[in-house]
Amino acid sequence: MRVSVLGLGYVGCVSAACLASLGHEVIGVDVNQVKVDLVNDGKAPVVEERIGEMIAEVVGTGRLRATTDVREAIMGSEVSLVCVGTPSEPNGSLCTTYLERVTEQIGAAVAERGGRQTVVFRSTMLPGTCLDLLVPILEKYAGTAGVDFGVAVNPEFLREGTSVRDFFDPPKTVIGELDPASGDVVAALYEGLPGEVFRVPVPTAEAIKYADNAFHGLKIGFANELGAVCRALGVDSHQVIDVFLADHKLNISPAYLRPGFAFGGSCLPKDLRSLVHAAQRADVSVPILSHVLPSNAEHLRRAVELVERTGSRRVGLFGLSFKPGTDDLRESPLVELAERLFGKGYDLRIHDPNVNLSRLLGANREYIETRLPHLAQLLTDSVDEVLEHAEVCVVGTKDPAVLAALPHGARPVIVDLVHLPDAEARRAEPGYVGLAW
Ligand SMILES: NC(=O)c1ccc[n+]([C@@H]2O[C@H](COP(=O)([O-])OP(=O)(O)OC[C@H]3O[C@@H](n4cnc5c(N)ncnc54)[C@H](O)[C@@H]3O)[C@@H](O)[C@H]2O)c1
Repeated sequence: MRVSVLGLGYVGCVSAACLASLGHEVIGVDVNQVKVDLVNDGKAPVVEERIGEMIAEVVGTGRLRATTDVREAIMGSEVSLVCVGTPSEPNGSLCTTYLERVTEQIGAAVAERGGRQTVVFRSTMLPGTCLDLLVPILEKYAGTAGVDFGVAVNPEFLREGTSVRDFFDPPKTVIGELDPASGDVVAALYEGLPGEVFRVPVPTAEAIKYADNAFHGLKIGFANELGAVCRALGVDSHQVIDVFLADHKLNISPAYLRPGFAFGGSCLPKDLRSLVHAAQRADVSVPILSHVLPSNAEHLRRAVELVERTGSRRVGLFGLSFKPGTDDLRESPLVELAERLFGKGYDLRIHDPNVNLSRLLGANREYIETRLPHLAQLLTDSVDEVLEHAEVCVVGTKDPAVLAALPHGARPVIVDLVHLPDAEARRAEPGYVGLAW
């Protein structure tokens, strides 16, 4: 394919050289004449493992050249990869100035060139940037997106330092496609490379890059805070993390990594509190660990807000224990939610197939009696009783009997805290509100 690469920084330079080495005919573009001259001399404008030899080779064989002229590059290509920078503004917001400028130039050139050009954005940008900001710029010049020209978002997952290796062995390929034909063009560019290919809507592709980078930062911060606490407590943090990492069931796994409801129970909140307390006593600042419980409380507040926004007063709550398959109510976020709603004067009925007041014993019973003394009045034995009462059903369990009985349509409103198995379908219904969307 004939490919233009707009922006010859780390991402653009590596993409251009690697695509040329895969056999594509590539024209790189940059506003910086020095970078353009370096590439045309067969030299790399960035320092990266293997990039020097690769650029020398592909420039030598004529598969890569560079220019400062966007128009010339678009005229000589049918697919354009936009790799310009998207730095932070002083207030933290995303600077889209370079993206907007280059998109204007591409739009004008595509209009002049005619034929279907596919514009692929590789720069990292917030969900909505492509469809709400950049596509309208292109459409100002070049007709209708998805008809007269193609558009895709194809985020880059390379790591500086090992970016050439990462290009040929990517963790995954994400193609956010406006239409299937646009996605096909991107897929064809990378044909033969390993790794799973995900074809998703454009905003999803934009968001995936942020999910990845936020998680990577969080992982490093978590490991460093844990290391600092261990050090203060005289524990070898590397031994701790070795065992931690060996657990592929609960730690390095998809467990606990789906948007859903708040956590609770007799362990997580208590243990986070005491770990943070121990860190504070040792004068170790742990901002990530100390904000986990406040983050959880915020999530619970969002659930209360969803109920409030329905404007209805008669509420049914399905689920009460802290997680499915247990009757343990200690520090259950659903108990907290019930208590908040009750406190705000909502007319509440609750059903949890695992919780039967007469069967609750010991600490559990004491917990209910102190935390939610009116629970006995609110608990019902059947799903139907709750459904008959409720204008709003708050679903905090995936118990099969509850799922089977949940109605569809506008009434009662379903407030989904657990991402129901049929959430996709329900999303189109007027009475559905999801916390995990
Ligand atoms: N660096 C990384 O490891 C990495 C990894 C993944 C994603 N990203 C994302 O990719 C994008 C590019 O990152 P980078 O590190 O390569 O940036 P960079 O700053 O190194 O390079 C951007 C290049 O674009 C050029 N440019 C700006 N406006 C232009 C225009 N109108 N026409 C042509 N060229 C223009 C600049 O001169 C510069 O050479 C960013 O959105 C970044 O967040 C970077």
